[in-house]
Formats: sequence, structure tokens, C-alpha cells
Amino acid sequence: MTTPSTQSKLRPILLTVLLLGGFMIFMLMYVKPSSQWLYEPVKSVVCPDQVTPTTELVTTNTTKVQKEEKKTILLVWLVPFGQQNDLNFCKSQFNMDYCIMTTDKNMYSKADGLLFHHRDIRGDLSNLPKAQRPPHQKWIWMNMESPSHSGNFNGLDDMFNLTLNYRRDADIPARYGYLVKKENEKKFELPNKNKLICWIVSNYNPNHARTKYFNELRQHIEISTFGRGFGRYVSDGDYANIVSSCKFYLSFENSVHTDYITEKLYRPLSLGTVPVVLGPSRQNYEYFVPRDAFIHTNDFKSPKELADYLHVLEKNETLYMRYFDWKQFYDVKGTSFWIEHACRACEHLRTDNRYNAFRSLRSWYWG
Ligand SMILES: *[C@@H]1O[C@H](CO)[C@@H](O)[C@H](O)[C@H]1NC(C)=O
Ligand SMILES: *[C@@H]1O[C@H](CO)[C@@H](O)[C@H](O)[C@H]1NC(C)=O
Ligand SMILES: *[C@@H]1O[C@H](CO)[C@@H](O)[C@H](O)[C@H]1NC(C)=O
Repeated sequence: MTTPSTQSKLRPILLTVLLLGGFMIFMLMYVKPSSQWLYEPVKSVVCPDQVTPTTELVTTNTTKVQKEEKKTILLVWLVPFGQQNDLNFCKSQFNMDYCIMTTDKNMYSKADGLLFHHRDIRGDLSNLPKAQRPPHQKWIWMNMESPSHSGNFNGLDDMFNLTLNYRRDADIPARYGYLVKKENEKKFELPNKNKLICWIVSNYNPNHARTKYFNELRQHIEISTFGRGFGRYVSDGDYANIVSSCKFYLSFENSVHTDYITEKLYRPLSLGTVPVVLGPSRQNYEYFVPRDAFIHTNDFKSPKELADYLHVLEKNETLYMRYFDWKQFYDVKGTSFWIEHACRACEHLRTDNRYNAFRSLRSWYWG
């Protein structure tokens, strides 16, 4: 039982408690939600696809300072084909100050990501890291070859977190080349031509679809052949001279797979030669380059029909030159293997923090 005297002693304490409680409820109801409203839109702007290496999407001073200090470390565990590269490339070419690229295996526990080139992974996985994987670290599977030319072996599943590949649906899509809009439109000048069709091939395999097509095509039209496949080695320097001196070039891929469109397309495009393509569908090519930049073998019922059409273009300058209209507006860029792709990987590690375990690489790639 409480006496009136204790009640009067309690009253100021109760009042204080009530006032404090009311104030706290007010704070929780109005102040906190409104600060979240301020915060939310800023957060939604940070969309991985939109973050370019040079943009800083940081709002406050303190976080900016923190962001600049934190580097992203990419450890290239298996150097692709053992081809050393300038590890400062990302910084010098793309201003990616935040990216530290290394091949030093002692950096294992510090690395945000590890890069593995598929061709260099041993079938028994004996050249992959043995130490426990740090929980934040992502392993990146890199492959620019098509499934027909990539070994499919046990152990590739449940191993990697991200894919770096020519496929558009890869986590880090990588291309052999791309078109960029010209700063100033410029009229295209056709290089001197003294050959009709050329083909340079190092891996001549009678079983390839491209070899069968070539053998039929050459019954109807003259094709100048070069490369190790024909016992005529072509150096890097000779390549440009040969290809630019041909009206057409056979951009025949070694295997036919969606999105598998290589430098065999982009190099002739950049050298002012019309590519005749054999590969995925026309629709697939048109995703990457303008429809009138190339001739597709699928547009003709037979190699003979294609030969007839090429003869028409040979004789009609107006028709032939239409295949270069796009050149007034676009430049062709080749990508430098493998370092440029590695820069993209570093950027991805930086901007996409999602957890991602790729459980079934084998069915994704080899089907
Ligand atoms: C932001 O940072 C700069 C340099 O670190 C400092 O001089 C400036 O006072 C900071 N501004 C605010 C609003 O904190
Ligand atoms: C070339 O083709 C164009 C367009 O089809 C045609 O108008 C022109 O007459 C042709 N020129 C020659 C020399 O055949
Ligand atoms: C990466 O993938 C492995 C294997 O699936 C998984 O155990 C690991 O938790 C993943 N880590 C991250 C950071 O996504």
C-alpha cells in the first residue's frame, strides 16, 4: 500500500519518465523514418551496372575518405597462357586507382578475388589454392574459348563464384572487340585492294563446319589463303597488310556458339574489309555490330549463291561501298587479352557485393 506522501514523492519522477518516453516515441516515429527517406534514394542510385570506375557515388566526406583508402585486390592465380602483362594497365588505361592487380600468391588471404584462366587449370585441380578460402573472397572463372575448345572436367562445379566469358549472360561479360561512336564523323577511305577474298587460318581441321563451307565456296570463287593451315605463316605485322588488301575476308569461327564472335570479325571490320561470317545467327551478330557491316553465310542457300553475290559486289562499287556506311559513325576497338578483362573483373569485385556461388558451371557452359 502507498501512502499519500510516497505518491507525492513519485509524481515528479513519473512525469519525467512520461515526458522522456513521449520524446523518445516522437524521435522514433518522425526523426528516424525521415532520415531513412533521405538515405534510401541515395542507396538505390548505387546500381552495379551504372558504376563506372571514375564515378564516385559517395555522399558524405567520411565515407569518401574510407572508399579511397580501400583498394580492391585481384590475384591472378593462373596467368593466362603464361602471358605476362602490365599489371598497372587498369590504372593507366582506365583510371582504376582502386585496383591492385597481382600475381603474387602470398597475397592469397588478402585478395578480394582470384582469377583462374580455364585453359591453365589442371584437370586434377592440383594447381588451385589449397589453403582455406577467406569467406569474402570470390573465385573468378575466366574463359574466352568456346565450349567445343574447352576441356570439361569434374570438379569445376561448386568451385567458382563468378564467370568471365564472351557470353552475354556471364557475370562479367568480355568481348573480343566492340564499336564506339566516333567523336567526329569522318568519311571512310577504302584501303587499296588487290585480292577478292582472303582467309587466314592456323588451325585447319577438315571436320570444322568452316572447312567444309570453304571447300565448297572455293569451287565457285577465287580465295587467297594464308596461315599455318596452308603452310604460309603470317606474322602479326603481315596480318593487317594482307587483310586490308582483300575486298572480303572469311570470318569463319572455329565452332558455332551463341555470342562466340571473335577478333575474326572485329579485325577485318577495323581494317576496312567486309567480313563474310560463319558462326551464330545473323540476329546474334546484329547484337554486336550493324546489320550492313557484314555478309552472313546463312543469308544464302548455298556457297554457290554466296559466290554469285560476291561477284556482283566485286563489279558494283556502289553496292560494295554500302558495307562501309557505318564506318562514318563508328570506330572498332579490339580488347587486349587478358589484362583488359582482368580490369573488368576488378571493377566487378568492387561494385557488386552480392554473395554468389556458381554451383553448376558445367551445365551452364557445356550444357
Ligand atoms: C571534408 O574533407 C575535407 C578534407 O578532408 C575537409 O577539409 C572538410 O572540412 C570536410 N568537410 C566536411 C563538411 O566535413
Ligand atoms: C550497281 O547497283 C546499283 C544499286 O542496285 C544500281 O543502281 C547500279 O545501276 C549498279 N551499277 C552497275 C554498274 O551495275
Ligand atoms: C564462393 O563459392 C564457393 C563455392 O560454391 C562458396 O563456398 C563460397 O561461399 C562463395 N563465396 C562468395 C563470397 O560468394
